[in-house]
Amino acid sequence: MAVQLHFSFVSLTALFILSLSSINSLTSAQDSGTATYYTPPYTPSACYGFEDDGVMIAAASDTFWNDGGACGQMYQVTCLSGTNEGTPEPCLGSGSVVVKIVDHCPPGSCRGTIDLSQEAFESIADTDAGVINISYQQI
Ligand SMILES: *[C@@H]1O[C@H](CO)[C@@H](O)[C@H](O)[C@H]1NC(C)=O
Repeated sequence: MAVQLHFSFVSLTALFILSLSSINSLTSAQDSGTATYYTPPYTPSACYGFEDDGVMIAAASDTFWNDGGACGQMYQVTCLSGTNEGTPEPCLGSGSVVVKIVDHCPPGSCRGTIDLSQEAFESIADTDAGVINISYQQI
C-alpha cells in the first residue's frame, strides 16, 4: 500500500512537471504590434454573446484570432510608444495590462493588432493617442 502511494505521488509529480513544460512551450513569445480601443457596450461579443466578462477585455485581430481559438486566452499588453506626433509619449503607469480575449476585431474595420477595451487602454496609455505601439504576449 505504502509503495503504491509512493508510486502515484511520483507519477503525479512527473505529470505536473510535464504539464508545466507543455504550458510553457504553448505560450508564445513576445510579439510587437499596435493597439486601438473600443468603448461600451462590450456585449454581445464574438466569443461569449451577452455574457459579461468585465472590462479587462480585448478583441483579437486576424493576426491571432485563430478562427475563435483566441477566445478566453489571456494576453499581457505593454505600451511601447505612440504612433503619431500629436501624442509623442502616450504610455502611462506601469505601461502593462492583462486582458482576456472576448471578441474579434474584424478585417476591414480593425486598425490594430489588438483592440483593447477603453478601460484597459487607458490603464496603459493616453486615449488621445488612439493607436499605440505595443508588445504583447500570451500568458
Ligand atoms: C511604432 O512602431 C513602428 C513599427 O515598428 C515603427 O516604425 C515606429 O517608429 C514606432 N513609432 C514610434 C513613435 O516609436
